[in-house]
Amino acid sequence: MRILSGIQPSGTIHIGNYFGMIKKMIESQNEGELFAFLASYHALTSVKDKEALENNTYEAAINFLALGMDPEKSTFWVQHDVKEVLELYWILSNHTSMGLLERAHSYKDKTARGIVAGHGLFSYPVLMAADILLFDSNIVPVGKDQIQHVEMTRDIATSFNHAYGKEIFILPEAKVDEVVATVPGTDGAKMSKSYNNTIDMFTSPKQRKKQVMGIVTDSKELDEPKEWENCNIYTLCKLFMNEDELKDLQKRYATPGEGYGHFKMTLLDKINEYFAPYEEKREYYLNNKKEVREILAFGASKAKKIASAKMEQIRDIIGLI
Ligand code: TRP
Repeated sequence: MRILSGIQPSGTIHIGNYFGMIKKMIESQNEGELFAFLASYHALTSVKDKEALENNTYEAAINFLALGMDPEKSTFWVQHDVKEVLELYWILSNHTSMGLLERAHSYKDKTARGIVAGHGLFSYPVLMAADILLFDSNIVPVGKDQIQHVEMTRDIATSFNHAYGKEIFILPEAKVDEVVATVPGTDGAKMSKSYNNTIDMFTSPKQRKKQVMGIVTDSKELDEPKEWENCNIYTLCKLFMNEDELKDLQKRYATPGEGYGHFKMTLLDKINEYFAPYEEKREYYLNNKKEVREILAFGASKAKKIASAKMEQIRDIIGLI
């Protein structure tokens, strides 16, 4: 079973990203054959700044490596190193109706917000279909906002298969994880960069402390017993603590004498402890960027073998002699 994940390279990641997507992705390396790439071409639809794109790409690669992406076991590369995807993108464009693209939510949402869409943004789903179909992907883990893109991929693949009367492309399945929504931000809403309620993964101790201390609670005083059930601090603690530790914390909530500041410190310690080993690895890669580039190139060489064989097959079938 082949699992394919595309990730838009972005500089900062938060614990909502980690527990929602990244942790699952890293674990999926034991469940199937993981193909994961940084979607640098897709990023061009919104990033038009050389330094920003370069930095985001390195940051994302480093974060994934630090968090356990295994470049030997999995295939981990940056999209623009395997240019076959652009050839397939063009071929698939001829099996994609304008109407299909016009119905895409992500495109419609962006234009509704006043963003003037370029052709790249409009045809984004076709490139995504090429990513998926080029590697005969079975499973595509995505967030809710990307389900429609995987459905469009199936439509495009079906249309292509039908046109040439052969099952050239496997129809991929989107896999959506519901856990994502349950990681609350510091204000209790879903943790998201755009809500400004994140606890960031790789950040200064000072900044992380500030974020944890900013968690919203009710206003019970030290000498009042507190409820853990709907407390944002407790909900976040669940990500980092075992059953015994949580039982312990429940007792502390019920016993007057401690305030939310104390519970926040407990959470902060737990977060720091949890990510400490990853910080070390991240530090290493930050100081060895050349090695990071080599790791990505190695991943690309593995991906390219599959991509070029698939493209040969496709060219042959459609008559590109
Ligand atoms: N569009 C995806 C996102 O923004 C990223 C992506 C690009 C992707 N190509 C992909 C995801 C292929 C899965 C498969 O999250």
